[in-house]
Amino acid sequence: MNEDAARRQKAAKDHLWMHFTRLSSYAEADVPVIVRGEGAYVWDDRGRRYLDGLAGLFVVQAGHGRKELAAAAAAQAEELAFFPVWSYAHPTAIDLAERIAQMAPGDLNRVFFSSGGGEAVETAWKLAKNYFKLVGKPMKHKVISRAIAYHGTTQGALSITGLPPLKEQFEPLVPSTFRVPNTNQYRAPLHGDDPEAFGRWAADQIGVAIENEGPDTVAAVFLEPVQNAGGCFPPPPGYFERVREICDEHDVLLVSDEVICAFGRLGHMFGAERYGYVPDMITCAKGLTSGYSPLGATIVSDRIAEPFLHGDASFAHGYTFGGHPVSCAVAMANLDVFERERLNEHVRGTEGAFRGTLEKLLDLPIVGDVRGDGFFYGIELVKDKATKETFDADESERLLRGFLSKALLEAGLYCRADDRGDPVVQLAPPLVCDQEQFDEMEQVLRAVLTEAWSKI
Ligand SMILES: Cc1ncc(COP(=O)(O)O)c(C=O)c1O
Repeated sequence: MNEDAARRQKAAKDHLWMHFTRLSSYAEADVPVIVRGEGAYVWDDRGRRYLDGLAGLFVVQAGHGRKELAAAAAAQAEELAFFPVWSYAHPTAIDLAERIAQMAPGDLNRVFFSSGGGEAVETAWKLAKNYFKLVGKPMKHKVISRAIAYHGTTQGALSITGLPPLKEQFEPLVPSTFRVPNTNQYRAPLHGDDPEAFGRWAADQIGVAIENEGPDTVAAVFLEPVQNAGGCFPPPPGYFERVREICDEHDVLLVSDEVICAFGRLGHMFGAERYGYVPDMITCAKGLTSGYSPLGATIVSDRIAEPFLHGDASFAHGYTFGGHPVSCAVAMANLDVFERERLNEHVRGTEGAFRGTLEKLLDLPIVGDVRGDGFFYGIELVKDKATKETFDADESERLLRGFLSKALLEAGLYCRADDRGDPVVQLAPPLVCDQEQFDEMEQVLRAVLTEAWSKI
Protein backbone atom coordinates (compact mmCIF):
# COMPACT_ATOMS: atom_id res chain seq x y z
CA MET A 1 0.00 0.00 0.00
CA ASN A 2 1.46 3.38 -0.95
CA GLU A 3 1.57 6.34 1.43
CA ASP A 4 -1.56 7.98 0.06
CA ALA A 5 -3.55 4.73 0.33
CA ALA A 6 -2.29 4.18 3.89
CA ARG A 7 -3.37 7.69 4.92
CA ARG A 8 -6.78 7.12 3.38
CA GLN A 9 -7.11 3.75 5.10
CA LYS A 10 -6.67 5.45 8.45
CA ALA A 11 -9.09 8.26 7.51
CA ALA A 12 -11.72 5.68 6.51
CA LYS A 13 -11.50 4.11 9.94
CA ASP A 14 -11.48 7.44 11.76
CA HIS A 15 -14.09 9.39 9.83
CA LEU A 16 -16.25 7.43 7.40
CA TRP A 17 -19.39 5.86 8.85
CA MET A 18 -20.00 2.95 6.51
CA HIS A 19 -23.65 1.98 6.12
CA PHE A 20 -25.03 -1.22 7.64
CA THR A 21 -21.51 -1.98 8.86
CA ARG A 22 -20.06 -3.26 12.10
CA LEU A 23 -17.39 -0.60 12.40
CA SER A 24 -15.57 -2.85 14.87
CA SER A 25 -14.94 -5.38 12.11
CA TYR A 26 -12.34 -2.96 10.72
CA ALA A 27 -10.47 -2.55 14.00
CA GLU A 28 -7.90 -5.08 12.81
CA ALA A 29 -8.75 -5.53 9.13
CA ASP A 30 -8.40 -3.03 6.28
CA VAL A 31 -11.45 -1.34 4.79
CA PRO A 32 -11.75 -2.45 1.16
CA VAL A 33 -11.32 0.70 -0.92
CA ILE A 34 -12.57 0.47 -4.50
CA VAL A 35 -11.02 3.05 -6.77
CA ARG A 36 -11.98 2.31 -10.37
CA GLY A 37 -14.38 0.35 -12.56
CA GLU A 38 -14.57 -0.86 -16.14
CA GLY A 39 -17.38 -2.98 -17.58
CA ALA A 40 -18.19 -5.79 -15.14
CA TYR A 41 -15.01 -5.30 -13.09
CA VAL A 42 -13.78 -3.00 -10.32
CA TRP A 43 -10.27 -2.46 -8.88
CA ASP A 44 -9.16 -1.71 -5.32
CA ASP A 45 -6.44 0.62 -4.11
CA ARG A 46 -3.89 -2.19 -4.31
CA GLY A 47 -4.62 -2.80 -7.96
CA ARG A 48 -6.56 -6.04 -7.36
CA ARG A 49 -9.41 -6.76 -9.78
CA TYR A 50 -12.85 -8.05 -8.76
CA LEU A 51 -15.82 -9.23 -10.80
CA ASP A 52 -18.71 -7.03 -9.66
CA GLY A 53 -21.28 -9.75 -9.03
CA LEU A 54 -23.74 -7.31 -7.47
CA ALA A 55 -23.56 -4.35 -9.87
CA GLY A 56 -22.41 -2.25 -6.91
CA LEU A 57 -25.67 -2.67 -5.04
CA PHE A 58 -28.06 -3.79 -7.81
CA VAL A 59 -27.27 -0.49 -9.51
CA VAL A 60 -24.66 -0.45 -12.29
CA GLN A 61 -26.78 -2.01 -15.05
CA ALA A 62 -24.81 -0.56 -17.97
CA GLY A 63 -21.47 -1.49 -16.39
CA HIS A 64 -18.67 0.66 -15.01
CA GLY A 65 -16.52 3.24 -16.79
CA ARG A 66 -19.06 4.52 -19.34
CA LYS A 67 -17.56 7.75 -20.60
CA GLU A 68 -20.79 8.91 -22.24
CA LEU A 69 -22.67 8.78 -18.92
CA ALA A 70 -19.91 10.80 -17.25
CA ALA A 71 -20.00 13.24 -20.18
CA ALA A 72 -23.79 13.62 -19.90
CA ALA A 73 -23.38 14.54 -16.23
CA ALA A 74 -20.62 17.05 -16.99
CA ALA A 75 -22.53 18.68 -19.85
CA GLN A 76 -25.65 19.10 -17.73
CA ALA A 77 -23.71 20.49 -14.77
CA GLU A 78 -22.22 23.13 -17.09
CA GLU A 79 -25.58 24.02 -18.60
CA LEU A 80 -27.73 24.00 -15.44
CA ALA A 81 -26.30 22.28 -12.38
CA PHE A 82 -29.32 22.65 -10.20
CA PHE A 83 -32.83 23.86 -10.11
CA PRO A 84 -35.68 22.34 -8.11
CA VAL A 85 -38.85 20.80 -9.51
CA TRP A 86 -40.85 22.59 -6.83
CA SER A 87 -43.35 24.56 -8.95
CA TYR A 88 -40.68 24.88 -11.68
CA ALA A 89 -39.39 22.44 -14.25
CA HIS A 90 -36.26 21.96 -16.30
CA PRO A 91 -35.83 20.18 -19.63
CA THR A 92 -34.14 16.97 -18.46
CA ALA A 93 -36.76 16.28 -15.75
CA ILE A 94 -39.56 16.89 -18.27
CA ASP A 95 -37.95 14.72 -20.95
CA LEU A 96 -37.20 11.92 -18.50
CA ALA A 97 -40.72 11.95 -17.02
CA GLU A 98 -42.15 11.72 -20.53
CA ARG A 99 -39.80 8.87 -21.46
CA ILE A 100 -40.54 6.91 -18.28
CA ALA A 101 -44.29 7.39 -18.82
CA GLN A 102 -43.94 5.99 -22.34
CA MET A 103 -42.06 2.94 -21.06
CA ALA A 104 -44.21 2.25 -18.00
CA PRO A 105 -47.09 -0.26 -18.17
CA GLY A 106 -50.77 0.69 -18.42
CA ASP A 107 -51.72 4.26 -17.59
CA LEU A 108 -48.76 4.93 -15.27
CA ASN A 109 -48.11 8.33 -16.80
CA ARG A 110 -47.09 10.65 -13.99
CA VAL A 111 -43.60 10.64 -12.45
CA PHE A 112 -42.67 12.01 -9.01
CA PHE A 113 -38.88 12.15 -8.68
CA SER A 114 -36.91 11.62 -5.48
CA SER A 115 -33.25 11.00 -4.66
CA GLY A 116 -33.37 7.23 -4.11
CA GLY A 117 -35.41 4.11 -3.50
CA GLY A 118 -36.44 4.62 0.12
CA GLU A 119 -37.76 8.07 -0.73
CA ALA A 120 -39.68 6.61 -3.68
CA VAL A 121 -41.34 4.12 -1.29
CA GLU A 122 -42.02 6.85 1.27
CA THR A 123 -43.59 8.94 -1.48
CA ALA A 124 -45.81 6.07 -2.63
CA TRP A 125 -47.20 5.46 0.84
CA LYS A 126 -47.87 9.16 1.51
CA LEU A 127 -49.43 9.50 -1.93
CA ALA A 128 -51.71 6.50 -1.32
CA LYS A 129 -52.92 8.02 1.96
CA ASN A 130 -53.41 11.46 0.40
CA TYR A 131 -55.26 9.97 -2.61
CA PHE A 132 -57.79 8.19 -0.41
CA LYS A 133 -58.39 11.34 1.64
CA LEU A 134 -59.13 13.22 -1.58
CA VAL A 135 -61.57 10.61 -2.88
CA GLY A 136 -63.53 10.46 0.36
CA LYS A 137 -62.04 7.32 1.94
CA PRO A 138 -59.94 8.99 4.64
CA MET A 139 -59.58 5.89 6.81
CA LYS A 140 -57.64 4.00 4.14
CA HIS A 141 -54.05 4.36 5.35
CA LYS A 142 -52.61 0.92 6.25
CA VAL A 143 -50.05 -1.00 4.23
CA ILE A 144 -49.61 -4.72 3.65
CA SER A 145 -46.16 -6.04 2.72
CA ARG A 146 -44.32 -9.37 2.83
CA ALA A 147 -42.23 -11.15 5.43
CA ILE A 148 -38.48 -10.55 5.10
CA ALA A 149 -38.97 -7.94 2.34
CA TYR A 150 -36.74 -4.84 2.43
CA HIS A 151 -38.21 -1.51 1.34
CA GLY A 152 -35.74 1.07 2.69
CA THR A 153 -34.59 2.81 5.85
CA THR A 154 -36.64 6.00 6.22
CA GLN A 155 -39.11 5.51 9.06
CA GLY A 156 -42.05 4.92 6.72
CA ALA A 157 -40.18 2.60 4.36
CA LEU A 158 -38.64 0.80 7.34
CA SER A 159 -42.11 0.26 8.80
CA ILE A 160 -43.12 -1.41 5.54
CA THR A 161 -39.98 -3.55 5.68
CA GLY A 162 -40.56 -7.10 6.95
CA LEU A 163 -37.25 -7.64 8.75
CA PRO A 164 -37.69 -7.32 12.55
CA PRO A 165 -33.91 -7.29 13.26
CA LEU A 166 -33.52 -4.14 11.13
CA LYS A 167 -36.39 -2.42 12.94
CA GLU A 168 -35.78 -3.26 16.61
CA GLN A 169 -33.24 -0.49 17.14
CA PHE A 170 -35.72 2.13 15.98
CA GLU A 171 -39.05 1.05 17.42
CA PRO A 172 -41.63 2.40 17.74
CA LEU A 173 -41.89 3.00 14.02
CA VAL A 174 -44.82 4.22 11.95
CA PRO A 175 -47.87 2.14 12.94
CA SER A 176 -50.33 0.53 10.53
CA THR A 177 -48.24 -1.91 8.50
CA PHE A 178 -48.89 -5.66 8.33
CA ARG A 179 -46.96 -8.61 6.96
CA VAL A 180 -48.13 -11.53 4.81
CA PRO A 181 -46.11 -14.60 3.69
CA ASN A 182 -43.68 -14.16 0.82
CA THR A 183 -43.28 -16.45 -2.21
CA ASN A 184 -40.40 -18.60 -0.97
CA GLN A 185 -41.35 -21.76 -2.86
CA TYR A 186 -38.31 -23.66 -1.52
CA ARG A 187 -39.68 -23.34 2.00
CA ALA A 188 -43.36 -23.17 1.16
CA PRO A 189 -45.42 -24.06 4.24
CA LEU A 190 -47.89 -25.80 1.92
CA HIS A 191 -48.28 -26.60 -1.79
CA GLY A 192 -44.46 -26.86 -2.00
CA ASP A 193 -44.71 -29.13 -5.04
CA ASP A 194 -47.43 -27.18 -6.86
CA PRO A 195 -46.31 -23.64 -7.80
CA GLU A 196 -49.74 -22.57 -9.03
CA ALA A 197 -51.53 -23.67 -5.87
CA PHE A 198 -48.75 -22.08 -3.79
CA GLY A 199 -49.07 -18.81 -5.72
CA ARG A 200 -52.83 -18.78 -5.27
CA TRP A 201 -52.45 -19.46 -1.55
CA ALA A 202 -49.76 -16.78 -1.09
CA ALA A 203 -51.83 -14.19 -2.98
CA ASP A 204 -54.94 -15.10 -1.00
CA GLN A 205 -53.07 -14.34 2.23
CA ILE A 206 -53.09 -10.70 1.11
CA GLY A 207 -56.87 -10.87 0.80
CA VAL A 208 -57.11 -12.42 4.27
CA ALA A 209 -54.92 -9.65 5.74
CA ILE A 210 -57.01 -6.93 4.08
CA GLU A 211 -60.19 -8.48 5.41
CA ASN A 212 -58.75 -8.91 8.90
CA GLU A 213 -57.69 -5.26 9.03
CA GLY A 214 -60.89 -4.00 7.38
CA PRO A 215 -60.78 -3.06 3.68
CA ASP A 216 -61.87 0.49 4.55
CA THR A 217 -58.60 1.00 6.42
CA VAL A 218 -56.10 -0.49 3.95
CA ALA A 219 -54.50 1.84 1.41
CA ALA A 220 -51.85 -0.22 -0.36
CA VAL A 221 -49.95 -3.44 -0.85
CA PHE A 222 -46.20 -3.10 -1.47
CA LEU A 223 -44.60 -6.00 -3.36
CA GLU A 224 -41.38 -6.46 -5.29
CA PRO A 225 -41.72 -8.36 -8.59
CA VAL A 226 -38.93 -10.64 -7.33
CA GLN A 227 -38.36 -10.26 -3.59
CA ASN A 228 -34.69 -9.64 -2.90
CA ALA A 229 -34.24 -10.09 0.86
CA GLY A 230 -34.36 -13.76 1.74
CA GLY A 231 -32.60 -14.52 -1.53
CA CYS A 232 -34.64 -13.94 -4.69
CA PHE A 233 -38.22 -15.14 -4.54
CA PRO A 234 -39.80 -14.92 -8.01
CA PRO A 235 -43.60 -14.92 -8.14
CA PRO A 236 -45.23 -18.30 -8.69
CA PRO A 237 -47.43 -18.53 -11.80
CA GLY A 238 -50.70 -16.62 -11.40
CA TYR A 239 -49.57 -14.82 -8.22
CA PHE A 240 -49.73 -11.25 -9.46
CA GLU A 241 -52.90 -11.88 -11.45
CA ARG A 242 -54.62 -12.94 -8.25
CA VAL A 243 -53.08 -10.09 -6.22
CA ARG A 244 -54.40 -7.61 -8.80
CA GLU A 245 -57.91 -9.10 -8.47
CA ILE A 246 -57.78 -8.88 -4.67
CA CYS A 247 -56.57 -5.28 -4.74
CA ASP A 248 -59.32 -4.30 -7.20
CA GLU A 249 -61.96 -6.07 -5.14
CA HIS A 250 -61.03 -4.05 -2.03
CA ASP A 251 -59.95 -0.79 -3.69
CA VAL A 252 -56.42 -1.24 -2.36
CA LEU A 253 -53.51 0.17 -4.40
CA LEU A 254 -50.90 -2.24 -5.73
CA VAL A 255 -47.42 -0.71 -5.47
CA SER A 256 -44.71 -2.56 -7.38
CA ASP A 257 -41.46 -1.81 -5.56
CA GLU A 258 -38.99 -2.11 -8.43
CA VAL A 259 -36.04 -0.38 -6.83
CA ILE A 260 -34.04 -3.47 -7.80
CA CYS A 261 -36.20 -5.13 -10.46
CA ALA A 262 -36.68 -2.26 -12.96
CA PHE A 263 -34.31 -1.28 -15.76
CA GLY A 264 -33.20 -4.58 -17.13
CA ARG A 265 -32.55 -6.61 -13.99
CA LEU A 266 -35.25 -9.03 -15.20
CA GLY A 267 -34.74 -8.39 -18.93
CA HIS A 268 -37.50 -5.76 -19.14
CA MET A 269 -37.76 -2.09 -18.27
CA PHE A 270 -40.10 -3.07 -15.45
CA GLY A 271 -40.62 -6.29 -13.54
CA ALA A 272 -44.39 -5.79 -13.81
CA GLU A 273 -44.00 -6.15 -17.57
CA ARG A 274 -42.19 -9.45 -17.18
CA TYR A 275 -44.88 -10.95 -14.98
CA GLY A 276 -47.80 -9.37 -16.84
CA TYR A 277 -49.46 -7.13 -14.27
CA VAL A 278 -50.27 -3.44 -14.14
CA PRO A 279 -49.73 -1.89 -10.69
CA ASP A 280 -51.13 1.47 -9.54
CA MET A 281 -47.65 2.76 -8.75
CA ILE A 282 -44.07 1.70 -9.43
CA THR A 283 -41.21 2.75 -7.18
CA CYS A 284 -37.77 2.67 -8.79
CA ALA A 285 -34.23 4.09 -8.43
CA LYS A 286 -30.82 2.38 -8.71
CA GLY A 287 -30.59 1.18 -12.35
CA LEU A 288 -32.43 4.23 -13.71
CA THR A 289 -29.07 6.01 -13.90
CA SER A 290 -26.88 2.90 -13.62
CA GLY A 291 -25.59 4.70 -10.53
CA TYR A 292 -23.72 7.45 -12.35
CA SER A 293 -25.84 9.89 -10.33
CA PRO A 294 -28.54 9.25 -7.70
CA LEU A 295 -32.21 9.33 -8.64
CA GLY A 296 -35.47 7.73 -7.52
CA ALA A 297 -38.96 7.84 -9.01
CA THR A 298 -42.51 6.98 -8.07
CA ILE A 299 -44.52 6.35 -11.24
CA VAL A 300 -48.22 6.92 -10.72
CA SER A 301 -51.33 5.91 -12.65
CA ASP A 302 -53.68 8.49 -14.15
CA ARG A 303 -56.38 7.34 -11.76
CA ILE A 304 -54.26 8.13 -8.67
CA ALA A 305 -53.00 11.43 -10.11
CA GLU A 306 -56.48 12.59 -11.17
CA PRO A 307 -57.77 14.07 -7.88
CA PHE A 308 -54.58 16.15 -7.64
CA LEU A 309 -55.33 17.90 -10.93
CA HIS A 310 -58.13 20.11 -9.64
CA GLY A 311 -58.68 23.20 -7.50
CA ASP A 312 -56.44 23.66 -4.51
CA ALA A 313 -55.34 20.01 -4.27
CA SER A 314 -51.57 19.68 -3.86
CA PHE A 315 -49.38 16.78 -2.75
CA ALA A 316 -47.43 18.52 0.04
CA HIS A 317 -44.30 16.44 -0.40
CA GLY A 318 -40.93 16.82 -2.10
CA TYR A 319 -37.13 16.52 -1.93
CA THR A 320 -34.63 19.25 -2.79
CA PHE A 321 -32.64 16.83 -4.95
CA GLY A 322 -35.62 14.97 -6.45
CA GLY A 323 -35.38 15.21 -10.23
CA HIS A 324 -31.88 16.71 -10.04
CA PRO A 325 -30.97 17.99 -13.53
CA VAL A 326 -27.65 16.12 -13.61
CA SER A 327 -29.26 12.84 -12.53
CA CYS A 328 -32.06 13.21 -15.09
CA ALA A 329 -29.52 13.89 -17.85
CA VAL A 330 -27.57 10.81 -16.81
CA ALA A 331 -30.77 8.73 -16.79
CA MET A 332 -31.57 9.85 -20.34
CA ALA A 333 -28.08 8.86 -21.51
CA ASN A 334 -28.36 5.57 -19.61
CA LEU A 335 -31.66 4.75 -21.31
CA ASP A 336 -29.98 5.54 -24.65
CA VAL A 337 -27.38 2.88 -23.82
CA PHE A 338 -30.17 0.41 -23.00
CA GLU A 339 -31.75 1.01 -26.41
CA ARG A 340 -28.60 1.12 -28.49
CA GLU A 341 -27.02 -1.97 -26.92
CA ARG A 342 -30.31 -3.79 -26.47
CA LEU A 343 -29.48 -4.62 -22.86
CA ASN A 344 -32.92 -6.08 -22.08
CA GLU A 345 -32.68 -8.38 -25.08
CA HIS A 346 -29.18 -9.37 -23.95
CA VAL A 347 -30.49 -10.32 -20.50
CA ARG A 348 -33.39 -12.30 -21.95
CA GLY A 349 -31.09 -14.00 -24.44
CA THR A 350 -28.47 -15.07 -21.90
CA GLU A 351 -30.42 -15.58 -18.68
CA GLY A 352 -30.88 -19.28 -19.47
CA ALA A 353 -27.11 -19.70 -19.78
CA PHE A 354 -26.56 -17.74 -16.56
CA ARG A 355 -29.05 -19.88 -14.68
CA GLY A 356 -27.66 -23.09 -16.19
CA THR A 357 -24.12 -22.12 -15.16
CA LEU A 358 -25.16 -21.33 -11.58
CA GLU A 359 -27.23 -24.51 -11.37
CA LYS A 360 -24.04 -26.54 -11.82
CA LEU A 361 -23.39 -25.59 -8.18
CA LEU A 362 -26.32 -27.76 -7.10
CA ASP A 363 -23.92 -30.70 -7.06
CA LEU A 364 -22.29 -29.20 -3.93
CA PRO A 365 -23.68 -30.48 -0.62
CA ILE A 366 -23.99 -26.93 0.77
CA VAL A 367 -26.11 -25.56 -2.11
CA GLY A 368 -29.80 -26.17 -1.41
CA ASP A 369 -31.44 -23.97 -4.01
CA VAL A 370 -30.60 -21.71 -6.94
CA ARG A 371 -33.43 -19.32 -7.72
CA GLY A 372 -34.19 -16.10 -9.52
CA ASP A 373 -34.89 -14.68 -12.96
CA GLY A 374 -33.06 -12.47 -15.43
CA PHE A 375 -29.71 -11.36 -14.02
CA PHE A 376 -30.89 -11.73 -10.44
CA TYR A 377 -30.16 -14.90 -8.42
CA GLY A 378 -30.02 -16.17 -4.89
CA ILE A 379 -28.12 -19.31 -3.91
CA GLU A 380 -29.41 -20.74 -0.65
CA LEU A 381 -26.91 -22.54 1.55
CA VAL A 382 -28.06 -25.44 3.70
CA LYS A 383 -26.58 -27.79 6.24
CA ASP A 384 -28.50 -30.78 4.96
CA LYS A 385 -29.80 -30.86 1.45
CA ALA A 386 -32.22 -33.72 2.00
CA THR A 387 -33.99 -32.14 4.97
CA LYS A 388 -33.29 -28.49 3.91
CA GLU A 389 -31.99 -27.93 7.43
CA THR A 390 -30.50 -24.47 7.68
CA PHE A 391 -27.63 -23.13 9.76
CA ASP A 392 -28.23 -21.89 13.29
CA ALA A 393 -27.39 -18.30 14.21
CA ASP A 394 -23.84 -19.14 15.35
CA GLU A 395 -23.03 -21.17 12.27
CA SER A 396 -24.50 -18.49 10.04
CA GLU A 397 -22.37 -15.88 11.75
CA ARG A 398 -19.21 -17.95 11.35
CA LEU A 399 -20.01 -19.01 7.82
CA LEU A 400 -21.30 -15.79 6.28
CA ARG A 401 -19.62 -13.01 8.23
CA GLY A 402 -16.57 -14.89 9.41
CA PHE A 403 -15.67 -16.68 6.22
CA LEU A 404 -17.72 -16.37 3.03
CA SER A 405 -17.84 -12.63 2.35
CA LYS A 406 -14.09 -12.25 2.81
CA ALA A 407 -13.17 -15.46 1.01
CA LEU A 408 -15.29 -14.57 -2.03
CA LEU A 409 -13.72 -11.13 -2.23
CA GLU A 410 -10.24 -12.56 -1.84
CA ALA A 411 -11.01 -14.97 -4.67
CA GLY A 412 -11.95 -12.00 -6.88
CA LEU A 413 -15.75 -11.97 -6.67
CA TYR A 414 -17.69 -9.11 -5.10
CA CYS A 415 -21.17 -10.35 -4.19
CA ARG A 416 -23.25 -10.57 -1.07
CA ALA A 417 -23.56 -13.27 1.56
CA ASP A 418 -26.80 -12.41 3.28
CA ASP A 419 -28.61 -13.84 6.29
CA ARG A 420 -31.60 -11.53 6.51
CA GLY A 421 -33.62 -14.70 5.94
CA ASP A 422 -31.99 -18.08 5.43
CA PRO A 423 -28.31 -17.80 4.40
CA VAL A 424 -27.92 -16.95 0.73
CA VAL A 425 -25.35 -15.68 -1.71
CA GLN A 426 -26.86 -13.00 -3.93
CA LEU A 427 -25.81 -12.31 -7.50
CA ALA A 428 -26.99 -9.40 -9.64
CA PRO A 429 -24.15 -8.48 -12.00
CA PRO A 430 -24.05 -5.66 -14.56
CA LEU A 431 -26.24 -6.45 -17.56
CA VAL A 432 -23.22 -6.47 -19.88
CA CYS A 433 -22.00 -9.80 -18.44
CA ASP A 434 -21.65 -12.82 -20.68
CA GLN A 435 -20.69 -16.49 -20.45
CA GLU A 436 -17.11 -15.58 -19.49
CA GLN A 437 -18.35 -13.83 -16.33
CA PHE A 438 -21.00 -16.51 -15.61
CA ASP A 439 -18.21 -19.10 -15.64
CA GLU A 440 -15.99 -16.94 -13.46
CA MET A 441 -18.77 -16.58 -10.87
CA GLU A 442 -19.43 -20.32 -10.89
CA GLN A 443 -15.75 -21.20 -10.52
CA VAL A 444 -15.11 -18.80 -7.64
CA LEU A 445 -18.29 -19.89 -5.86
CA ARG A 446 -17.46 -23.57 -6.37
CA ALA A 447 -14.01 -23.20 -4.82
CA VAL A 448 -15.11 -21.00 -1.90
CA LEU A 449 -18.30 -22.95 -1.08
CA THR A 450 -16.34 -26.20 -1.15
CA GLU A 451 -13.92 -24.73 1.38
CA ALA A 452 -16.83 -23.38 3.45
CA TRP A 453 -18.33 -26.87 3.65
CA SER A 454 -15.06 -28.29 4.93
CA LYS A 455 -15.10 -25.72 7.75
CA ILE A 456 -18.55 -26.52 9.09
C1 LIG B 1 -36.96 -3.18 -2.96
C2 LIG B 1 -36.24 -2.01 -2.38
N1 LIG B 1 -36.94 -0.93 -2.00
C3 LIG B 1 -36.34 0.16 -1.49
C4 LIG B 1 -34.98 0.20 -1.32
C5 LIG B 1 -34.33 1.42 -0.72
O1 LIG B 1 -33.59 2.10 -1.69
P1 LIG B 1 -32.46 3.17 -1.27
O2 LIG B 1 -31.35 2.41 -0.63
O3 LIG B 1 -32.07 3.80 -2.58
O4 LIG B 1 -33.12 4.15 -0.35
C6 LIG B 1 -34.20 -0.90 -1.70
C7 LIG B 1 -32.74 -0.87 -1.55
O5 LIG B 1 -32.04 -1.81 -1.82
C8 LIG B 1 -34.85 -2.03 -2.23
O6 LIG B 1 -34.16 -3.12 -2.60
